[in-house]
Amino acid sequence: MIEQLEQIEANAMQALAQVQSSAELQTWQNAHLGKKSPLMLVIGNMQSLAKEERPLVGQAGNRIKNNLQTAASARAESLAVAELSAKLKAESIDVTLPGRPHSGGRLHVSNQVLRQIYAIWAEMGFQVYRSRDVETDEYNFQLLNFPVGHPAREMQDTFHTHIPDVILRTHTSPGQIHAMRQFCPEPIRVILPGMCYRYEQITTRSEVQFHQIEGLAVGRNITFSDLKGTLTDFARRMFGQGVRTRFRTSYFPFTEPSAEMDVECFLCSGKGCKVCKYAGWLEILGCGMVHPVVLSNGGYDPQAFTGFAFGMGPERIAMLKYAIEDIRYFWGNDLRFLKQF
Ligand code: DAH
Repeated sequence: MIEQLEQIEANAMQALAQVQSSAELQTWQNAHLGKKSPLMLVIGNMQSLAKEERPLVGQAGNRIKNNLQTAASARAESLAVAELSAKLKAESIDVTLPGRPHSGGRLHVSNQVLRQIYAIWAEMGFQVYRSRDVETDEYNFQLLNFPVGHPAREMQDTFHTHIPDVILRTHTSPGQIHAMRQFCPEPIRVILPGMCYRYEQITTRSEVQFHQIEGLAVGRNITFSDLKGTLTDFARRMFGQGVRTRFRTSYFPFTEPSAEMDVECFLCSGKGCKVCKYAGWLEILGCGMVHPVVLSNGGYDPQAFTGFAFGMGPERIAMLKYAIEDIRYFWGNDLRFLKQF
C-alpha cells in the first residue's frame, strides 16, 4: 500500500513538472488532489485496510498530500512570476520608437489669403464690414447704377430665389450701399469680404461661388491719387516692397472713372511666364471713384463727398501666388490639395 502511495506521489510530481500555466495547474489540482484523485481514493478507503496498517498508511497519505500541496503552491508562485513578466513584456512600450505625427487641422487656403488681406487693410485703417449673402435686385444692381436691362448685368449671371427680386449676391459691392446708409454722413474706410455666387458653368477658371473683398473709402477730399497710392501700398505689402503696379482704364457701372490694377508677375518678375500668359503682368483687382449716383444712393451729397472703391478675388490671388491651375480645387475638399497650404 505504501508503495502504491509512493507511485501516486511520483506520478503527481512528474505531471506537475509539465504544468505550464495557471489553467493547467488547476487541472492538475483536480486530477491529483481532488476528491476523485488516486491519493484521495486511497485515503478515503482506509476502512478496508487491516487495523495495524492504518496508522502507517494514514501517515504516508498525509505526508504525500502535504508534499503535493507544497509543491503545487511553489509551482503556482513561479508560474505567477513568469506570467507577470510575460505580460509586462508583451505590453511594454518601446520609448525609442518615433512618435506618430498628429494630423492637426489647418486654415483653408482661401481663409489664409483672406486673413492676410484683412491684416494689411487693418494696418491701413480699414475695418471689416460684413453684409448679407442674400440680397435684393435693388441692392445688388439698381442702387449700384445697373438699371433693369442694363447690359453690364450680363457679366454677372444670377442665382434667383423663389421670392421675386431676392437673389444671391453676385458681388460684394451691394455692401457699399449698406455701409454708406449706416455711416452717412461720417467718412468711411471699410473692407467688405464675403462669398459671392454666380450662375455659371463651372470650369477651371470659374466657380459658382467664390470670395471677394470689396473696399470703400468715402470722405470730403478723396481723389484718384488716393486710390492709386492706397492700392499701390496694398500691393507692396501683399506681394513685396519692390513690386511694380500699373492701372488700366476699365468700366464698372458703379465707379467713374474705373480702372483695373495689375501687379508685375511675381513668379517671373515681369519676364513673362505661363501664369501671366507671357504678359509680365497679373490683373488683381477692379477699382474706381465711387459714381455720384451711387454716393447719393448711399445718402451722401456727391457735391461734398467723394470716394473710391475696389474689389478683389482672394481665390484668384491665391491661384496666382501658388500657381494653382484649377479653381475647382478650392471647394473640392481634397485633403491632398488643402494640406499643401
Ligand atoms: N464688383 C465687381 C465685380 O464683381 C468688382 C469691383 C470692381 C468692385 C470695381 C469695385 C470696383 O468696388 O470699384 O466684378
